[in-house]
Amino acid sequence: MAYAFFAFFACVVLAYGDQIPAVLWHGMGDSCCNPLSLGRIEKMIVDKIPGIYVKSISIGDNIIEDTFNGFFKNANEQIDIVCAQLKADPKLANGYNAMGFSQGGQFWRAVAQRCPTPPMFNLVSVGGQHQGVFGFPRCPGSEALCEMVRKLLNYGVYERYVQDNLVQAEYWQDPLNETEYRKYSVFLADINQENVKNATYKENLMKLKNFVMVKFLQDTMVQPKESEWFGFYKPGQDKETFTLQESPLYMEDWLGLKEMDAAGKLHFLTSDTDHLQFNDTFFNNELLPFLK
Ligand SMILES: *[C@@H]1O[C@H](CO)[C@@H](O)[C@H](O)[C@H]1NC(C)=O
Ligand SMILES: *[C@@H]1O[C@H](CO)[C@@H](O)[C@H](O)[C@H]1NC(C)=O
Ligand SMILES: *[C@@H]1O[C@H](CO)[C@@H](O)[C@H](O)[C@H]1NC(C)=O
Repeated sequence: MAYAFFAFFACVVLAYGDQIPAVLWHGMGDSCCNPLSLGRIEKMIVDKIPGIYVKSISIGDNIIEDTFNGFFKNANEQIDIVCAQLKADPKLANGYNAMGFSQGGQFWRAVAQRCPTPPMFNLVSVGGQHQGVFGFPRCPGSEALCEMVRKLLNYGVYERYVQDNLVQAEYWQDPLNETEYRKYSVFLADINQENVKNATYKENLMKLKNFVMVKFLQDTMVQPKESEWFGFYKPGQDKETFTLQESPLYMEDWLGLKEMDAAGKLHFLTSDTDHLQFNDTFFNNELLPFLK
């Protein structure tokens, strides 16, 4: 009887205790807890990995604030807030796997580079824009929010006020004026080591066990979609693109990605769909293994 009880207890501990938690970060125009988007993903994860602790990042006190902040809360402040949230959660103390959707992908990378405690094991970037965007073809928000975004973008993406307040401007890369981008971008130019080469960023990113990047082959939202694999427009025009492997960031290895690539830690996946429109099979077979 005592033995049976102990065996049962041990099984429970094995099933529930060893599972690495997963933390999700939603995309622009979405929120932590929408039952049709992140709520659905959370359910798929819990169904397939019983007992897993899943946390969904929320910036602000409710869904409205969280959605609003996805547009108008400085990305650097968001990274600090999330770092504090991760540290404050005892269930994450031993580490976690991160999954980010769209801009959540590059935000998680910033967390990996700036906030090494608690440790992030795997980073799954689903349509993240690691070299930023040049264009804003569709806005997945309310008419009022989207009008504010358009006005600010038109006012000037690299104006100080816009950089400090519009998230999408903070990862805007203008290939027609890379000098201006490097000088004024408060977020992307920093995490991509365009100016200062911060050795800590490289050291921290290289702690990842796996860095998974999903590119959407029919993406109509991200310009250019190559950014989802760290590619971007070649300077001076907006047609031809370069790949991660062709970039100075990789060749001179500012972030350790070349070394991680050689070690088999980078995973380049594709979904032959529009932005974030992956199917369940893709999610279960290609992404879920990185949350186990
Ligand atoms: C490098 O990054 C670390 C972690 O975010 C930060 O504490 C440090 O101030 C940065 N150093 C420079 C020179 O930017
Ligand atoms: C790039 O932007 C700067 C202002 O930040 C401007 O002085 C310069 O002329 C621009 N260069 C080009 C090629 O447009
Ligand atoms: C699911 O998506 C993958 C990746 O795009 C694709 O290869 C596969 O055919 C899709 N499956 C179904 C049932 O649509």
